[in-house]
Amino acid sequence: MNILVTGGAGFIGSNFIKYMLQNKDCNIVNLDLLTYAGNIKNLEGLSENKRYTYIKGDILNRGLLDYIFRTFEIQIVVNFAAESHVDRSIEDPEIFLKTNVMGTQALLDTAKDYWKLNLADKYSKEFEKGVKFIQVSTDEVYGSLGPSGYFTEETCLAPNSPYSATKASADMMVRAYYETYGLPVCITRCSNNYGPYQFPEKLIPLMINNALKGLSLPVYGDGKQVRDWLYVEDHCSAISAVIEKGKSGEVYNIGGNNEKENIEIVKLILDKLGKEHSLITHVKDRLGHDRRYSIDNTKINKELGWSPSYNFEEGMEKTITWYLENVEWMEDIVSGEYMRYYNKMYDGR
Ligand code: NAD
Ligand code: DAU
Repeated sequence: MNILVTGGAGFIGSNFIKYMLQNKDCNIVNLDLLTYAGNIKNLEGLSENKRYTYIKGDILNRGLLDYIFRTFEIQIVVNFAAESHVDRSIEDPEIFLKTNVMGTQALLDTAKDYWKLNLADKYSKEFEKGVKFIQVSTDEVYGSLGPSGYFTEETCLAPNSPYSATKASADMMVRAYYETYGLPVCITRCSNNYGPYQFPEKLIPLMINNALKGLSLPVYGDGKQVRDWLYVEDHCSAISAVIEKGKSGEVYNIGGNNEKENIEIVKLILDKLGKEHSLITHVKDRLGHDRRYSIDNTKINKELGWSPSYNFEEGMEKTITWYLENVEWMEDIVSGEYMRYYNKMYDGR
């Protein structure tokens, strides 16, 4: 199985590459532009692995995509490459359109041309051989929930942030390539991930870093927004199940059955690190802030036999331990451009 992973130097992509190389018989090509969120150190130890190739480049570069498909005889695409942070999308939406929408379309086009499908036939020989395009999407495309209810795969798309609007747009293009050209695709929509190698612009690593340094912990609004948290390795195993058993043209929701208010998580981090709750500072809320996400993962559980392996306590224990043991990894990030970002986002908020 020859897999093209895009965005494999980011948080989930790097965890996914390691998970696949450890657990599956596959060759992986990692195409990553190394934006601020990409970090080659996330993949340390793999450079000698003969089943792994890293290529620095842009998913918008069609010539490069053609070369990669032909040279490595790509059978599976797992598209993680994206601008992924909601707050950045509120400040500057344009790059989100370029990468998340145009980039996905460039990949779809290249896969379509390279796989030379019988375009009218969704059940072509190539599909039977296991060729597949996996679009790694997000539960945020469904918008926001009230205090009850869940997102199912039938829930209408109602994205609220520029980030989620671009992810929803990409999903629509993926769907169109399936309906129009018969490209074998699956879309996964996962809830909030946490774990090793997450960039400290996201809630959990940001709060761990600030708590360790005795800095204030900036909770948006009342902190009662709810997210459904999933340990990153469980997301990786879910995508692997979709590669192996997912049906073409289908959407699969992925979630941890694990809803938490942001404030609960922040307090848990402080307690685990032995720090005072007085570090918590409520700051101005995110614009258009979604109140609650919750995933119904019945479909992937029943049809593909996947369920999460880690509960939240285990996952958080592993995560906090990892950040404590990898202070250098964090310091490398927060000593550079990151502080300019942080000050712009949080100063006087
Ligand atoms: P991330 O920001 O940590 O990583 C994104 C990676 O994509 C980086 O390595 C970056 O260098 C790369 N990249 C960006 N633009 C590129 C381009 N034009 N060409 C090639 N590479 C490029 O993101 P993440 O948190 O690992 O998320 C990965 C994917 O999973 C995203 O598509 C995101 O929408 C989706 N997702 C994330 C979560 C979550 O909780 N983090 C949950 C559900 C879905
Ligand atoms: O649901 C899946 C999505 O989860 C992914 O598609 C996104 O790529 C990923 O970034 C994540 O989006 P969120 O906006 O939910 O994650 P974030 O870590 O930015 O924020 C989680 C919650 O914490 C959210 O309600 C905002 C809040 N928050 C976040 C930060 C960074 C704070 O209160 N303070 C903060 O400083």
